[in-house]
Amino acid sequence: MRRNGARHLLSMADLDRDDIEQILNLTGSFAEVGERSIPKVPALRGKTIAWLFYEDSTRTRLSFETAARRLSADTMNFSVSSSSVNKGESLRDTIETIAAMGIDGVVVRHRAAGAPQQVADWTDAAVINAGDGWHQHPTQGLLDLYTATSHLGDLDGKHIAIVGDIKHSRVARSNAIGFATMGARVTLVCPPTLLPPSLDGWPVEVTHDLDAVIDELDICYLLRMQLERQKQAVVPTLREYHHEYGLTSARADHLGAEALIMHPGPMNRGVEIAGEVADRPNAVIAEQVANGVSVRMAVLFLLLGAGLEPVDESAVGGGLAVA
Ligand code: CP
Repeated sequence: MRRNGARHLLSMADLDRDDIEQILNLTGSFAEVGERSIPKVPALRGKTIAWLFYEDSTRTRLSFETAARRLSADTMNFSVSSSSVNKGESLRDTIETIAAMGIDGVVVRHRAAGAPQQVADWTDAAVINAGDGWHQHPTQGLLDLYTATSHLGDLDGKHIAIVGDIKHSRVARSNAIGFATMGARVTLVCPPTLLPPSLDGWPVEVTHDLDAVIDELDICYLLRMQLERQKQAVVPTLREYHHEYGLTSARADHLGAEALIMHPGPMNRGVEIAGEVADRPNAVIAEQVANGVSVRMAVLFLLLGAGLEPVDESAVGGGLAVA
């Protein structure tokens, strides 16, 4: 978590079970802040956070921005499409330019795996990985853990299937680690062409048959088919993929009454999930988005405010006072 003396969140692999439990507990407190008539606290007053999004985003960017506003942080908005990146400015020069204006934190999304780690070497600010290529998306993993545990409680021994385009998915990498760290049994479900070249170090089982596991799942976690990252056809047709690996209405009927349907978004309705299934009561996809704000408040507070050491309750109490 530490580099250049600053604290960062670069990968779910940086977090042990105690770290995750601390973040999830704090998320619960910030979720309560979100329910107030004025959902704003002074916890990060005087801190400045920059957004460095080199890839498109709806959920992650908006929820980080909302989280920062609710914590009373100042923000520095940076849009790649209207910046000097278009004149050829490098990532290093860009971060050094932004840092020269004075930032305490930077949230980075980049198409290249490892870009946030590099940024952490070039700045004293806290760096948060908001998604790097196929590699990691740790705040997605945390918000999914918060959503899962708020419904199911302890994940020890729970069976979670991550279904779909595992190969190109940073969410699969973060969530496999996160769910396993919290004691769940994780099964990857996909055609052989959508598995990564190596699963060394992945704490998972693998099957190519969703119907073989669907009845016993506590969570069916679906992934988007990432067509923009695929250089060649990896399934014969999307229709065939839906038939073999999609959560169709018939398959969803096999899930237990308490089982959750999750998806990080954006969804391709009719490909990895039937449109009707995404709207069922046990599909918690909108809840995942809502929890993203509270989890990102907790992460920003811990990295820019309190630190990932055991949180001093009085400091948190002060941080959660009405702004
Ligand atoms: N889940 C997720 O990362 O969504 P966005 O790409 O919209 O941020």
